[in-house]
Amino acid sequence: MSENISDTARTSQSCEIVPERIDIEPFTMVIFGGTGDLSKRKLLPTLYHLCIDQNLPDDFSIIGFASSERSDEEYRELVKKAVEEFSEGDFKADCWDRFSKHLFYVSGGFEDPESYKRLSQRLEELTISSSKGKKEVIIYMAVPPHFLPAIFQQLPFCNICKETYNARLIVEKPFGRDRASASELNTLIGKTFSEKSIYRIDHYLGKETVQNILFFRFANSIFEPLWNRRYIDHVQITVAESLGIENRARFYEKSGVVRDIVQNHMMQLFALVAMEPPIGFEADYIRNEKVKVYKTMRSMSEEYIDQFTVRGQYGTGILNGSEVLSYRDEKDTAPDSNTPTFFAGKFFIDNWRWAGVPFYLRTGKRLKKRVTEISIHFKQPPLRLFGSTCDIREPNLLVLGVQPHEEISLHIGVKHPGIGNQLYPVNMDFNYERDFKGDVHFPLSYERLLIDCMKGDQTLFARQDGIEAMWSVVDPIIKRWENSKVPEFPNYTSGSWGPEKANELIQNDGRNWRIS
Ligand SMILES: NC(=O)c1ccc[n+]([C@@H]2O[C@H](COP(=O)([O-])OP(=O)(O)OC[C@H]3O[C@@H](n4cnc5c(N)ncnc54)[C@H](OP(=O)(O)O)[C@@H]3O)[C@@H](O)[C@H]2O)c1
Repeated sequence: MSENISDTARTSQSCEIVPERIDIEPFTMVIFGGTGDLSKRKLLPTLYHLCIDQNLPDDFSIIGFASSERSDEEYRELVKKAVEEFSEGDFKADCWDRFSKHLFYVSGGFEDPESYKRLSQRLEELTISSSKGKKEVIIYMAVPPHFLPAIFQQLPFCNICKETYNARLIVEKPFGRDRASASELNTLIGKTFSEKSIYRIDHYLGKETVQNILFFRFANSIFEPLWNRRYIDHVQITVAESLGIENRARFYEKSGVVRDIVQNHMMQLFALVAMEPPIGFEADYIRNEKVKVYKTMRSMSEEYIDQFTVRGQYGTGILNGSEVLSYRDEKDTAPDSNTPTFFAGKFFIDNWRWAGVPFYLRTGKRLKKRVTEISIHFKQPPLRLFGSTCDIREPNLLVLGVQPHEEISLHIGVKHPGIGNQLYPVNMDFNYERDFKGDVHFPLSYERLLIDCMKGDQTLFARQDGIEAMWSVVDPIIKRWENSKVPEFPNYTSGSWGPEKANELIQNDGRNWRIS
């Protein structure tokens, strides 16, 4: 629980930032799909960094588990190539030698019980007991979601998750494809793992600025009194990507933008902005508050969805000086595909704090530039005391930039120098890279999240009821879109800010997208 700040503690004190001690017990991580794209691009390079930065214990093992036949040595070669290609910084041979001896491989089919026996045997050989007498095991599901049912049919029958083992499970997004399938998956997983040992990962929550939203809101006393319907006019959240679907068409055709981005990343950002103060910084206090946000979001009727959501699919266009393909011309998409690659919508939260405040959400692929930001638009002052009547008045604006720059800026009005009384907009800025330059290490999203899982901290991972509540918000939109007439696709040019209707959505309320 949180502490009260007593009167005697009110004087300011300088605070030396000492690196947090990370005590991680010896463990074995089994990566299901240890040869796949996610493993090669993210997980294995991240584990390499954690090892060479000495954040891992001396005793740990990583077992890649996948279908192709290879020896431990061959697996080390595969991982070496991945680290060379995808890890940040120069590859160092001595660091690699330190890391590679912890790598092992088991080949086998996810449906094949014999494979699990071999895996259990390897685990038994490699895992040593922690100081608490248990063997710590982390099982990472780096596999496409359609494999999960087969894997969770097998897991209860091998001894990985019971007896002397203390097993934790990390599951990647997407977690289900609607509320019903997410709930089924939770039930299936729940046969082997308790909620306390399930880590549903969304790498967005590992980003510094995303975590900083909570610090910014609740470690400063000056913003929270303004953080409500009395002072805030509206909120915008934009998650714009300039990339198309790359080579993920098979996945994307079945998913679309709402399942891919809105249900998880956008809902997480939304909850961090809108949630009530938690009573402490422990995982469940924070997760309780997030779930309350989803539960108080106004439910959407079909009429509401038709009027206040916009879908789009990208056509051809010019990005960074080059012509790019339309979605329907990408490899492995259907030539008449109706999969949406753009979403905009207006949401409300029907609680005391936010009644009547619109939240405008927008995300899409092949937009003009890659940018993720939350902007809080404050109300105008009640009287116009300064400036001439034709001046455009810019209300205060707080921008929380997530990418490409992790920054916070507050836009305020000041007097323009001179003999007149002219208002002039200026910014007060905080920028992570500029203000923490020097020795400060910026952990990659996966670095932070893997360490948290090793420490047993679930704060940045979604809980079952949270996942299901997020699906409950977006399910009606997906259903309505799938069952109603599709707009003429493609309906926006690559390199633009999406369909014209997305502008109308916000302009009809007398507002504009901040980034346009
Ligand atoms: N790729 C990314 O950057 C990324 C980012 C965020 C989230 N994710 C999520 O991460 C998960 C994994 O995605 P991915 O792109 O890494 O998938 P992927 O490249 O298709 O990898 C699949 C893995 O599963 C193994 N495999 C396939 N069939 C098998 C079978 N029957 N038995 C045993 N092993 C089998 C493959 O091994 P073999 O090659 O040996 O068959 C491979 O290691 C997905 O949920 C995805 O949504 C991915």
